[in-house]
Amino acid sequence: TPRQDSPLYALLEQAAAYYRQQLRHHGQRQRAVGYLKQRGLTGQIAKLYDVGFAPPGWDNLMSHLAHDNTEQKALLDAGLVVENPETGKRYDRFRDRIMFPIRDARGRVIGFGGRVLGDEKPKYLNSPETPVFHKGRELYGLFEARRSNRQLEDILVVEGYMDVIALAQHGITNAVATLGTATSEDHLRRLFRVVHNVVFCFDGDNAGRQAAWRALQACLPAMEDGRHVRFLFLPEGQDPDTLVRSEGQDAFRARLVQKSVALTEYLFRHLEKEANIESLEGKAHLATLALPLIEQVPGSLLRRLLRQALENRTGMRLDELPASPPPPAEAE
Ligand code: UTP
Ligand code: MN
Ligand code: MN
Ligand code: MN
Ligand code: MN
Repeated sequence: TPRQDSPLYALLEQAAAYYRQQLRHHGQRQRAVGYLKQRGLTGQIAKLYDVGFAPPGWDNLMSHLAHDNTEQKALLDAGLVVENPETGKRYDRFRDRIMFPIRDARGRVIGFGGRVLGDEKPKYLNSPETPVFHKGRELYGLFEARRSNRQLEDILVVEGYMDVIALAQHGITNAVATLGTATSEDHLRRLFRVVHNVVFCFDGDNAGRQAAWRALQACLPAMEDGRHVRFLFLPEGQDPDTLVRSEGQDAFRARLVQKSVALTEYLFRHLEKEANIESLEGKAHLATLALPLIEQVPGSLLRRLLRQALENRTGMRLDELPASPPPPAEAE
């Protein structure tokens, strides 16, 4: 756990203030503002998420925040400055990018995501692991979602910064994003500390569908009775940002209600693509795939209902299953 009093927090806050100020006053601010406008964002929503601009150039931030070697080292520790291992030359990590500060649950800036204004690669650059930033644990937008909603009932989990912000732009202020990493049990602990209802809404592409199945697997050990997880699958090629911009808040909310599927439904739907339960062999295959997943569910009511659903699908009583015989010994 990071030290509460880490000096990095103050430094990261200063960096966020610097990027924010550049979006207002830098000579090339119109490029950045134009980009945000073209993506449908108003100044008000950019302010709510504290969006900023890292100007082009190798040492804007460094020369603003560091005046000696010790201060440069602190920027290195904060992940804001990079050192070339061969030459020892130091330079700003984020250059000519739209900047999204990432805050922890208490609202402290712990890292940044930065997006290019055009099509250059990589599209997004994130802070590296630092003493205060652990990518696999943090949820972008959780602090802002709690700040915007006195009583959060449910949380929408999406893939990207722009998905979170575009949804907020359209009045859907309860979205958070995993930071380009798979949903982890840490993420789920954090989510279920805040709400009982979680809806995953990943991109309508292969990566998004894979992320959804991995999220389901991460959810199983967290499924205590009374917790609800749903999945909303988007049309091919869409993400929450493009969809909410094209169809608007009401249609997107209706989609969430009408088109999302419960975790249990998704589980069987997914496995039954692999196991064709028309045949007895397929039914056995389904049981083989489903049982180890179902057994991970800690909620005894939900676990029993899942077993019952598996019984209905396979037509067999699972409590009559004999223990599997030991595998045959390998021939020497
Ligand atoms: P996507 O690849 O879905 O972003 O990555 P996108 O929807 O195309 O981005 P926009 O709409 O053009 O801006 C989703 C998330 O994955 C992480 C980022 O957190 C991003 O928001 N990501 C993506 C990276 O960390 N690095 C990348 O190069 C790409
Ligand atoms: Mn730590
Ligand atoms: Mn995608
Ligand atoms: Mn996307
Ligand atoms: Mn997108």
